[in-house]
Amino acid sequence: MAKQGAKIVVGLCVLGLLLVGGYVVLAQDDVMVIFHKEVFKRPERPPVVFTHEKHVEALGGDKSCAKCHHVYDEDKHELVYEEGEETGCADCHGFKDEKMADGSIKPSLMNAYHINCVKCHRALAKVHKETGPYTCGECHKKGNWKLVEGERSE
Ligand code: HEC
Ligand code: HEC
Ligand code: HEC
Ligand code: HEC
Repeated sequence: MAKQGAKIVVGLCVLGLLLVGGYVVLAQDDVMVIFHKEVFKRPERPPVVFTHEKHVEALGGDKSCAKCHHVYDEDKHELVYEEGEETGCADCHGFKDEKMADGSIKPSLMNAYHINCVKCHRALAKVHKETGPYTCGECHKKGNWKLVEGERSE
């Protein structure tokens, strides 16, 4: 059951991705190439390959979503997770850090990813659990440029 749920989610993702157009979706459904040229203009680093479904499975299925997705509750001034409201990070995070009305900081898109992805990978590594990369070159793999050939602004 949980597994089926995950499959549907990925179907939605791929649809969303094709419509949004900010990403390249590889033949294998699960794989996203994170490359927001519309935000970074002249990206310095190669794009990052992210396996959405593998993460959902490794991080608790339906319970995993809130580990990465959130919306902002304007009244309470806090981040909350709302089922069905998972959108791309670039919908809200921009090129620069932004100060919120309550004085807190909404990190830039780069920082949003780095905080979210790297913090988790490091924390799991620390307790010797299965984890993902946390050095620059392991995420921003040189070979990944070829995945966005023709889209990179020179
Ligand atoms: C866990 C994976 C991960 C690691 C580790 C990581 N990054 Fe990133 N980084 C990302 C993602 C995802 C993006 C968003 C890319 C996009 O949307 O185009 C990003 C964006 C960036 C950007 C802005 C886009 C660009 O290319 O100009 C820079 C610069 C960057 N990272 C540098 C670094 C450096 C330097 C390190 C090491 C200190 C590092 N990153 C480590 C995942 C990672
Ligand atoms: C480890 C982090 C992580 C987990 C866990 C996760 N997601 Fe995602 N999800 C992402 C990232 C990153 C993207 C791509 C967004 C971007 O590049 O801005 C994404 C994209 C999506 C999209 C497409 C959004 C769009 O408009 O482009 C949907 C829908 C989605 N996720 C739903 C879910 C659901 C439902 C769950 C839980 C079953 C979940 N995600 C779990 C990180 C995660
Ligand atoms: C609907 C808008 C919205 C979307 C979509 C969104 N964010 Fe955020 N995010 C915010 C706001 C607003 C803040 C600042 C909250 C504050 O100041 O208390 C924030 C803060 C953060 C922070 C810093 C606080 C923390 O939890 O450590 C991280 C990291 C972050 N977002 C990562 C992401 C990632 C990764 C995605 C995509 C998977 C994403 N965000 C999608 C609005 C959004
Ligand atoms: C809450 C924890 C968590 C977050 C957040 C997270 N990861 Fe991971 N990541 C993992 C775990 C656990 C694994 C090992 C999963 C496995 O291999 O089955 C992993 C594995 C990986 C791998 C190597 C395996 C693969 O899928 O190719 C990459 C690359 C990766 N993550 C990238 C990212 C990026 C990029 C982000 C942010 C958009 C991110 N991760 C966010 C926990 C996390």
